[in-house]
Amino acid sequence: MTVTISFMLQKGGVGKSTTAGILAYLLANRGKRVLVVDMDSQGNVSTLLSQRSTYTFSNETVLEAVEDENPLPYIISCGERLDLLPSDDLLAIYGRRIYELQDEGRSGASILYLKNTINKIADQYDYIFIDCPPSLNEQTTSALSASDYVITVLQAEVYAYQALPRFFETLFHIRNNVNRNLTMIGIAVGLIDRYTLQDSILEESKEEYGTLVFNTVIKRLARVAEFATLGISDARKDQKVALEMYESLLDEVLSRIENNFYDNSIYVKSLVARLDYVEEKLQQNLAEVKRIRFENSREDLIEFIKIAREWI
Ligand SMILES: Nc1ncnc2c1ncn2[C@@H]1O[C@H](COP(=O)(O)OP(=O)(O)OP(=O)(O)O)[C@@H](O)[C@H]1O
Ligand SMILES: [Mg+2]
Repeated sequence: MTVTISFMLQKGGVGKSTTAGILAYLLANRGKRVLVVDMDSQGNVSTLLSQRSTYTFSNETVLEAVEDENPLPYIISCGERLDLLPSDDLLAIYGRRIYELQDEGRSGASILYLKNTINKIADQYDYIFIDCPPSLNEQTTSALSASDYVITVLQAEVYAYQALPRFFETLFHIRNNVNRNLTMIGIAVGLIDRYTLQDSILEESKEEYGTLVFNTVIKRLARVAEFATLGISDARKDQKVALEMYESLLDEVLSRIENNFYDNSIYVKSLVARLDYVEEKLQQNLAEVKRIRFENSREDLIEFIKIAREWI
């Protein structure tokens, strides 16, 4: 059975693409067949894995794969057992394009076009990783609709933390309306600069997000940043050392998948935090359109919290 994992947080530069790329590389080294789908128009994971400029993928990307409902012509090899369905900056029109395809007569829900496309070749892979952009747009909702699991990468700073409740709300929308299987498998705390802070930040994150937080902390290392321009490699000892933390993260991810891990308490906590925010907004003097949006959100959140509580 193929396992599909999205890497997502609607907050930029926290290390999602790097983590997705390196974990895919390590899984392929462990003998698994891996496909990485780049759903971000920045094309960072495409460049990281292929060491090519995203402009060289022009008209041969995941966008064309979805248009043709056939990824095969657009998949490129980035190593033994490691394949890539790349993106370029034109992927920014993805949201508009899937609605156009629907208007042109394609059947089914537009949010599922990516899933249907990937399904054509899913059985050729053990793992499919989808790298999401740092926003809650159609690329992201399509990726979540096609996934079994989500991994969030959190930089230990306040904006990244604030992004989580809103992300859980989206996750529930997808779970409720499109993809019942979708499970948050864990939060990787990343890009910590000072070794001395590592333990306290991990502790704090665990206090906030419980067992969802992986024990492995991703440190900020020059060797990892270098992979972006040199390609991922374990040829040198210092590179091997840099990869060790990702090996340990990968062990945790695989063990959670194997043991059907999930922690509902954090879903409830995040959704309640989001509801508090929405209620606070509704106290204010909002314009009509905005008010309706927040009222809809409140209704959904109350329902989501009920469901999340029942899981426990
Ligand atoms: N462990 C690390 N040590 C040092 N640098 C890192 C590490 N992980 C990522 N980086 C660097 O940090 C920057 C942001 O990382 P990355 O592109 O993976 O983040 P992202 O969350 O995918 O960003 P975006 O939201 O824009 O897609 C990149 O320059 C990357 O090389
Ligand atoms: Mg990225």
